[in-house]
Amino acid sequence: DSGELRKLLESRIRDVPDWPKPGVVFKDISPLLADPVAFAALVDALAERCAGRVDKVVGIEARGFILAAPVALRARAGFVPVRKAGKLPCATHAQSYELEYGSATLEVHQDAFGAGDRVLVIDDVLATGGTVEATIDLIRRAGAEVVGVEVLLELGFLDGRARLAPVLPDGVLESF
Ligand code: PRP
Repeated sequence: DSGELRKLLESRIRDVPDWPKPGVVFKDISPLLADPVAFAALVDALAERCAGRVDKVVGIEARGFILAAPVALRARAGFVPVRKAGKLPCATHAQSYELEYGSATLEVHQDAFGAGDRVLVIDDVLATGGTVEATIDLIRRAGAEVVGVEVLLELGFLDGRARLAPVLPDGVLESF
């Protein structure tokens, strides 16, 4: 059941204090990815939740790729990468967003979606929500519809969910 799954996933995510800088506790999903039972359980659960209702699954660079690609395959949907600036070779939409210090830019190919494609977004961690917010914007500018956002982990104290509330209908953002 979902309680058991949550317990399994939680047990395979490790806290790394003071990384990448002092005072930050990094959530490392490497043990989860290295455990075939936990990794398969996560991918199966995500694929089951979206099968038949999405055309494309978007993975956000970099850890989002690792989760989104197998989910897309299992759900018989296409996979679309949202990448950091300067990585995609063809015409792109670009969206910048604020980080704690400075800003970052994400891009998607302009022809990544068919008109009206139903899209699921997957990433590992929702922190401030800036990354997902920029990704939603890119997908909409490319002419597709965001029908789901799935993150493995929400860092609740950063309130990414509240930041996304104005741009996402209720129930679209889910986590474990
Ligand atoms: C992390 C994480 C999310 C994002 C969440 O990615 O994987 O994509 O930050 O932060 P936010 O909600 O505050 O925007 P990171 O920038 O570390 O990139 P990486 O996966 O390429 O290492």
